[in-house]
Amino acid sequence: MSAASPMNRSDLADLLAFYASAGVDEALEEAPVNRFAETAPKPPERMPEATVPAGKTLAPRPPAQPPRPDMSRLPDAPPARPPSASATVPDEAQAALARQLATTATTLDELRQHMAAFDGCNLKFTAKNLVFADGNPNAAVMLVGEAPGRDEDIEGLPFVGRSGRLLDRMLAAIGLDRTSAYIANVIPWRPPGNRTPTPHETEICRPFIERQIELVNPKVLVNLGGPSAKTLLNTTEGILRLRGNWRVHTTASGVAIPAMPTLHPAYLLRTPAHKKLAWRDFLEVKAKLKELG
Ligand code: URA
Repeated sequence: MSAASPMNRSDLADLLAFYASAGVDEALEEAPVNRFAETAPKPPERMPEATVPAGKTLAPRPPAQPPRPDMSRLPDAPPARPPSASATVPDEAQAALARQLATTATTLDELRQHMAAFDGCNLKFTAKNLVFADGNPNAAVMLVGEAPGRDEDIEGLPFVGRSGRLLDRMLAAIGLDRTSAYIANVIPWRPPGNRTPTPHETEICRPFIERQIELVNPKVLVNLGGPSAKTLLNTTEGILRLRGNWRVHTTASGVAIPAMPTLHPAYLLRTPAHKKLAWRDFLEVKAKLKELG
């Protein structure tokens, strides 16, 4: 706190309450950081040997880039460079490493280990836990949301907060629970303050959820909300148009899995009038599971 703007305890408490209500619940550093001045990607840390499946070797890693000083913190820092296209282009080296780690995982346990060892997504560094999955990996139905929130980050499990409780009720309505369904997210680390994951972060995490779906090999996939549907069904259509219509998720090995895009439970908590639409979508899922035996 600067001497020029003294704040008393009550002002500070008001300010903190404001931050909390705005979803800002992570204190990272004392001073602001100009992220546009930091375009150098962090080189991935070496994978511990134990996480590479026996008989498989990792291809050589791309050469590490020398660290660049954070110019924005130096006393005579030149004006920050304007954001360039390269600041928003996915880091291809990290995405390639994620693809390689995902493909070399032959079981869900290996995939979880590879994800836990992966340092290429900045979200990992503000999250408390990797949120890998909950439920039964042998289930016929797999549900995929967007990204963990605060409760999920604390528990390390997907959909355990308010929207998770609604999801449990929606599952129960078609005779399912977490022993007969498998649940995961496109992004396995909580974005700070529950902000929307960037396209960059989504592209880096995409290989992991795609491999997770491939390893679970469910009969039916349910996309909870627009980000899950767009990422996994290769479409830019909005969720209100997509929902209720069967689509197909095709795995890397070419398996076609029927997918039902539906409304995200968090959206339904804000827009309860649309619960009837999600109810229809879940009835479709129930019918498809019956049809597929
Ligand atoms: N929303 C999601 O998309 N996933 C969770 O795990 C929790 C809330």
